[in-house]
Amino acid sequence: MSKRGFHKKPDTSAVLDIGSSKVVCLIGQSDLNMGVKLIGSGFGVSAGMKSGAVVDMDAMEQGIRTAVEKAEREAGVAVQSVAVNVALRSLRSEHLTVQTEFASGEVADRDLNRLINSSLSEFAQPEQTILHAIPLSWSVDGESKIEEPRGMFGSSLGVDMHFVLAGVGPLRNLAHCIERCHLRISSVTVSPYAAGLSVLTDDEKDLGVTLIDMGGGVTSAAVFRDNALVHVEALSVGGQTVTKDIARGLMTPPEAAERIKMLYGSALHGADDDRVSIPCPPMGAQDTLHHESKSLLTDIVRSRVEETFEILRDRLNQKGLEGFAGRRIVLTGGAAHLNGVRELAEYVFNKRVRVGRPHGVLGLKETLSGPDFAVATGLLKSQFLKENDVIQGAPDLTGRRYLKKRYSGGSFGRSIQWLKENF
Ligand SMILES: Nc1ncnc2c1ncn2[C@@H]1O[C@H](COP(=O)(O)OP(=O)(O)OP(=O)(O)O)[C@@H](O)[C@H]1O
Ligand SMILES: [Mg+2]
Repeated sequence: MSKRGFHKKPDTSAVLDIGSSKVVCLIGQSDLNMGVKLIGSGFGVSAGMKSGAVVDMDAMEQGIRTAVEKAEREAGVAVQSVAVNVALRSLRSEHLTVQTEFASGEVADRDLNRLINSSLSEFAQPEQTILHAIPLSWSVDGESKIEEPRGMFGSSLGVDMHFVLAGVGPLRNLAHCIERCHLRISSVTVSPYAAGLSVLTDDEKDLGVTLIDMGGGVTSAAVFRDNALVHVEALSVGGQTVTKDIARGLMTPPEAAERIKMLYGSALHGADDDRVSIPCPPMGAQDTLHHESKSLLTDIVRSRVEETFEILRDRLNQKGLEGFAGRRIVLTGGAAHLNGVRELAEYVFNKRVRVGRPHGVLGLKETLSGPDFAVATGLLKSQFLKENDVIQGAPDLTGRRYLKKRYSGGSFGRSIQWLKENF
């Protein structure tokens, strides 16, 4: 979307949060003292995405163009590439431990890189792409939980890797949409990971925390521990599902159901539930306005949100993460605004729960300071942070077993760079 008259400012980065309800473009600039400063923002309506996947290219393209153009105008820069997020039902976390033997001596960069590359090629799967590959801990000669193996003496080196994978099909569609807007993807981050980078404290990430991003079409979770992302989950259920339930249950059009949710919606029963009656506009011209009790509305909202939390809790427990993930949950996403969700999450998970708001971005306006902007601001922060993810740049969307090729030679150097910065 380059335009005449715009100039590129040094150290600027643009990100796009492409959600099921909204598209947000943020442009940030590195600030010597404060990390990152917001210099432009723009919004678009997302009418072309369902449950995290593109279903209407034209509508999606329109939403992206609107958001990017507004942000470009405000920042006075032309955006050429964007860091984007994804939250797809097909997201999968896998762990792999790999070992290598080497001539006895000091562990060096080349040994770490050889090991990481062998884990990546071992993990390559057709029609899947690796979005994140995070070394969780190293071992030297069987001695585990080593944070800095370089310089240690031994003859065998091991690493525990966390991979986040996604099916390439929906990613290709997303990439195509972005290309149609004449933009390049600079990186792809899973939504709850990005949200975590925006709202979590260092202590939470260290001791163990689960971030749950409650969007319009997707509810996704990221578990952090020892300052690393250790697991992700995603369900194709969100605030829009709640709205649909309300429309069905109260027999009212979806737009009216959305309004009713905003005005009266709660996941917890209140003392006035039986006294308050809610006006419900008719579905068709033949019907007339009718009234339903607030208690019925609360039942509808609660059962959907409770079921969503229960599915997530059961999935995390099945993976053995209940204790490992710490005693705290942080909620983000637009649906975290809903009354009573925090309390309901405390009840279902039996953990301390708070609603997370973005921090650490300078110049954040009031309109961008809610939990619905955690993903966008987290994406922006990630552009200026040193992350412990060996996947740099856009993911490979060819769907072939490509990694041996990709992570030898040139990209090898990038892994080395990463290792130098993080250890
Ligand atoms: N004040 C509010 N009360 C209740 N629900 C709200 C409120 N504000 C926003 N929501 C709900 O939040 C949802 C949108 O959240 P969000 O903006 O995080 O979604 P998204 O990022 O576009 O979608 P996704 O991440 O699922 O692809 C909508 O379903 C909307 O109804
Ligand atoms: Mg979202």
